[in-house]
Amino acid sequence: MEHEAVKRIYAGYSNVYDILFKRFFYPRIRHAIASMDIKPGDRVLDVGVGTGLSLDLFNKDASVVGVDLSHEMLKQARAKVDSLGMKNVTLLEMDAMNLSFEDDSFDKVFISHVVSVVPDPCRVMSEVRRVCKDRGKVVIVNHFKSRNKMVAGFQKVFNPISKRIGWRSDLCMDSFLSNCGLKIDKTETLKKIDFWQLIYGTNFK
Ligand SMILES: C[S@@+](CC[C@H](N)C(=O)[O-])C[C@H]1O[C@@H](n2cnc3c(N)ncnc32)[C@H](O)[C@@H]1O
Repeated sequence: MEHEAVKRIYAGYSNVYDILFKRFFYPRIRHAIASMDIKPGDRVLDVGVGTGLSLDLFNKDASVVGVDLSHEMLKQARAKVDSLGMKNVTLLEMDAMNLSFEDDSFDKVFISHVVSVVPDPCRVMSEVRRVCKDRGKVVIVNHFKSRNKMVAGFQKVFNPISKRIGWRSDLCMDSFLSNCGLKIDKTETLKKIDFWQLIYGTNFK
């Protein structure tokens, strides 16, 4: 997905994103963030924060930075931050493939429903590893290509349409995991059969 397409598509979604997706995404986001063991004083980066579905779930005593490419998605996130008075949250318009933070800036990084939207997931992970401290925790929530050959075949056919509506459907989890550069501590799904995976990793430098 190229940046201009992402910006155009997510500008279109921004007003209706929560109505369309919150009921599907929020339980998974809540579960993943609850497992992150975020401590008071931690610096947390939320990559591709979108409309900020995650923001009220982070420890209020942690310092949270959310970045996103889409101005309009961030506008929705800003409205949440303002209405809930979240003084610990900073939102910045930024490309996840070129993060403008110093090395080792964050204790924990959260990335939900983003690695199948960016043009180069490996590049994002390399940036995440750079800005995350040694032994920092990285949690990724995303859907991946099914291991079932028939379903995967359908996803491949569906991929061009899927990209037009905002994400690719053919990202292979095994190759993502072997190229992301993290030590994978655990992967899990919320349901027995689920395309969406929760990936918990540690950043060893
Ligand atoms: C499916 S939404 C997920 C939003 C949120 N993380 C969630 O789980 O609800 C994907 C988000 O990734 C953002 N995004 C896509 N490419 C990006 C990039 N290169 N850098 C930063 N954000 C990006 C989009 O603008 C969009 O807000």
